[in-house]
Amino acid sequence: MNVETFPSADAAADRAAELIALGLQASPRLVLGLATGATPAAVYKKLVERHRKGGLSFAGATAFGVDEYVGLPPSDRRSYAHYLSEHLYTHVDIDRSNAFVPDGMAADAGAEAQRYERLIAAKGGIGLLLLGIGLNGHIGFNEPPGDFTSRTHVATLATVSRRAHTQYFGGESAVPAQAITMGIGTILAARRIILLATGIAKAGPVRQALLEPVSPACPASALRSHGDSICVLDEAAASALMGQTAG
Ligand code: GLP
Repeated sequence: MNVETFPSADAAADRAAELIALGLQASPRLVLGLATGATPAAVYKKLVERHRKGGLSFAGATAFGVDEYVGLPPSDRRSYAHYLSEHLYTHVDIDRSNAFVPDGMAADAGAEAQRYERLIAAKGGIGLLLLGIGLNGHIGFNEPPGDFTSRTHVATLATVSRRAHTQYFGGESAVPAQAITMGIGTILAARRIILLATGIAKAGPVRQALLEPVSPACPASALRSHGDSICVLDEAAASALMGQTAG
């Protein structure tokens, strides 16, 4: 896994946006996988800027959200469908019929997860996937212990993850208990992966993902087995690496 460290969160987001822009320019029909959360918001802002000022086009692209809460409709501002719509889709020229998020309101969430996995395959698989990392090393909502072969499925959120999302829901008990998430196997099937982490709170999980043995205890460590994965960090998130990274 290549590791790139930048002086600030803004510079790291800029690099992630640049990698996505380069991918789109090289392959206008690129299939993107897109994470949500606080970290990638700056990347989407920069992509919108590149679209407005630099002519970056998403017209031929397809996009898949990495995950969605079970029980939240796209109209709910806390849903990831709403997040991706507000941060990116409504501001660029992507064909909305090619922008997908799992349906958190599906009557059968398990069947919806399988449908989503089939849809990703039908679109040719993910070409470029942008990921964040959770405080416990989760990617998407693949909580520890992670199953490295899992495909899109219904996951139960870890307590630490629900706590981390309290700010958006006004109370831990209000955070949905489950999400539909791409599995680690789905993620590893992406042709290129960018893992973006910024801020001191991510220093521990980044260290675990990059330096400690690859293990289900840290789902993000699975990315080290991928042949084309890039970890983009700011100095705070890189601060526990002490100048060393494992393969
Ligand atoms: C969320 C999402 C992940 C995200 C992670 C980190 O729960 N399911 O896709 O990468 O947690 O979020 P943040 O960037 O807000 O720290």
